Amino acid sequence: MQVPNVQSVTVEILVDNFFDIFEPSRPGVVERAVLGRLPKPLLAAHGLALLLTVTHNGGQSRILMDTGNSPLSFFNNLEAMGHGLEEVDAIFISHGHPDHYGALLEVLQRRGPGLPVYLHPDCYFPKLLITPRGRVGPYALEREKLAAAGAQLQENREPALLRDLALLTGTVAATTPYEKPLPGFKRLVQGHEEPDPFSDEQALVLNVAGKGLVVIGGCCHPGIINMTQYARKLTGVDQIAAIIGGFHLTAGGDDLINGTINGLTELNPGLVLAGHCTGFKALTRLAAALPDNFMVSCVGTKVMI
Ligand SMILES: [Fe+2]
Ligand SMILES: [Fe+2]
Repeated sequence: MQVPNVQSVTVEILVDNFFDIFEPSRPGVVERAVLGRLPKPLLAAHGLALLLTVTHNGGQSRILMDTGNSPLSFFNNLEAMGHGLEEVDAIFISHGHPDHYGALLEVLQRRGPGLPVYLHPDCYFPKLLITPRGRVGPYALEREKLAAAGAQLQENREPALLRDLALLTGTVAATTPYEKPLPGFKRLVQGHEEPDPFSDEQALVLNVAGKGLVVIGGCCHPGIINMTQYARKLTGVDQIAAIIGGFHLTAGGDDLINGTINGLTELNPGLVLAGHCTGFKALTRLAAALPDNFMVSCVGTKVMI
């Protein structure tokens, strides 16, 4: 699939689980927030929201990828990082979990009608989580409510372009033996509870001229290696400039962590920026295994590719 080259992309972490003022920067590539220079404090929260600024053919476009778990953290951090909703040209929702669409309705209501919202239609299946402490959910993202709030819905199951800016992978083809949907995640299909195959989760992929692919996953339930391999296959581009997102690894155990570390070592991306649902144990393992290209994703971080 022909994915247009873009000149550069800046990824700003608006909502993430972490904030650590002492995490290092990498000059010119990863800049951390400097306290005292922000108009208000940042809030860490369980969830993910990223603001992508894409430079292409002399122009600039802004994509909001996910909206965090609630309007509280999302709007606070948007303002803290000096941005406003009027700058957003399109929204992409990575998958149908509420820690990724938590502020979406309020974003649409505040912004007004006509904003394109890209997502896989399987995001609308109500989702449940079965934990040792009981059931959580169901939570549902409702098409009717999004439409009523003025969203211009752009649904895709197959690979599709987000304007001429980025590739959305559609349902991810699985290739690795160690990345499988975790058993606690369920969805409701016509009232019946079934294991969630995560057909709804897609990666957003940018092809940055001279640098390679930037692969961004929300929770990476289909597996970050599956998602990156699929992005390479769809684009025909092998070089990976950066892999960014929540990797959901600790909950999958040592086989998943070890397999992912081997997979990342083979892919050899210039930068691995992991946060959100990756899990503390997995983050420490990644930091030890990939000392030159791994960094922790924190709210307020800016990545420039
Ligand atoms: Fe998540
Ligand atoms: Fe998720």
